[in-house]
Amino acid sequence: MKTSTFLSLFTSVLLSSAAIVNAQDPPANITEVVLDNAAADSIDLSALDPSIFNGAFAEIKAVYEQVVEVESSGSDASTARRRTLRYNRRADTRKDIIDVHTHAVPSWFKQLVPVTGGNPTPDWTLEGHIAFMDQQGIDKSIIAISAPHANVFQGQKAVTVALARVLNEAISLYCRAYPTRLNFYAVVPLPYTTEAIAEAKYAINTLGAKGIVLTSNHEGTYLGNAQFTPFFKAINELGGRRVLYIHPGTPYVKVGNQLVEANPTPYPTGNIEFYFETARTLMDLTLTQTIHNFTNIHYVIPHVGGAFPAALDRILKSAPAIYDSSLAIYNTRFWWDSAGPTYYHQISGLLGIGVPKSQLLFGTDFPYAPIFTQAGSLAAVKNSPLFTDTEKTAIFKTNAQNLFQNQL
Ligand SMILES: *[C@@H]1O[C@H](CO)[C@@H](O)[C@H](O)[C@H]1NC(C)=O
Ligand SMILES: *[C@@H]1O[C@H](CO)[C@@H](O)[C@H](O)[C@H]1NC(C)=O
Repeated sequence: MKTSTFLSLFTSVLLSSAAIVNAQDPPANITEVVLDNAAADSIDLSALDPSIFNGAFAEIKAVYEQVVEVESSGSDASTARRRTLRYNRRADTRKDIIDVHTHAVPSWFKQLVPVTGGNPTPDWTLEGHIAFMDQQGIDKSIIAISAPHANVFQGQKAVTVALARVLNEAISLYCRAYPTRLNFYAVVPLPYTTEAIAEAKYAINTLGAKGIVLTSNHEGTYLGNAQFTPFFKAINELGGRRVLYIHPGTPYVKVGNQLVEANPTPYPTGNIEFYFETARTLMDLTLTQTIHNFTNIHYVIPHVGGAFPAALDRILKSAPAIYDSSLAIYNTRFWWDSAGPTYYHQISGLLGIGVPKSQLLFGTDFPYAPIFTQAGSLAAVKNSPLFTDTEKTAIFKTNAQNLFQNQL
């Protein structure tokens, strides 16, 4: 049985008949539900090393206990309610922000990935995330696992597929614990295209993902590669509006059969190479016309485009036949998030290519962007002389509502 069916049955039993349910009744065994759903998609979660498996399921069980409480009471987890009340008493700022670029870091995932883009992977807790949102005046966040997403074990298909599934189960439970505050983008196990399509469908249809996060390259293959075209085609064929969030990751070069991290400078990969990664993969998606052919797909591009706006003319003037059509797509089906210190000056480069202000979104990159940088980045948007107050309100909230068609 799928999780959602199982839970709605479970919840309706809880709600409808106190006589049948008593405190001794065992909670639904979430481990079993997750294993069964994986097996239904031919995913063998025992491909994961036992230490990872046990760590992940210990956390999933703990969050699920909150979810059961939340879904039987009809409100968010109690810690969040208390913090929100405190927040509301302390400050009179309205919670008027939607954060479309922010990350969850399960503790067992941090153990697997102690370093991200050359910097230490930050500590993170679900409650800490909600507290951060309250402090910053963020009403809703769309959380995603960060780089390297499900690609922790390069070249190993079974474990990559299993890791993607467990990450999606975990992040969907965070959202169910805070249903009024959190939504998520799901990971997929690219470069394994068939399995990635199956995972995307499960995550969207069963777990309720609002979109899919892709990394700029999956094991060294960029997103326009023909190997991935069936993935874009399948997402497009889901119909309606589909959102892909294109997060930068570590660049690699292939040396023999090995992928070697490609960073020619002494500086951490995340600090500058990620910007070039965004440019590389948007170039690839554009020149292959992937963005042209699958018109149900909208793209969320981090860091107001990274290095892409600066490189755009050089890239597109070599492909004059698609110059105008590409710009038209950047102005309509591309949405550009502010994550990081991007509104001090960098935003002017994006506006310079003609992107309408209605395509701009707000993102914090919490917890990867350190907390001491957050106030400055937020103030840079709030104080920017380039936008009217109405346009700022739209950047903080209503543009994101428009992108997600009021489904957050
Ligand atoms: C839940 O299911 C898992 C997997 O079948 C099993 O190992 C575990 O013992 C079960 N837990 C409980 C409390 O029944
Ligand atoms: C998109 O369609 C064009 C033809 O209009 C074709 O040349 C190109 O290969 C297609 N690209 C992809 C990724 O489907």
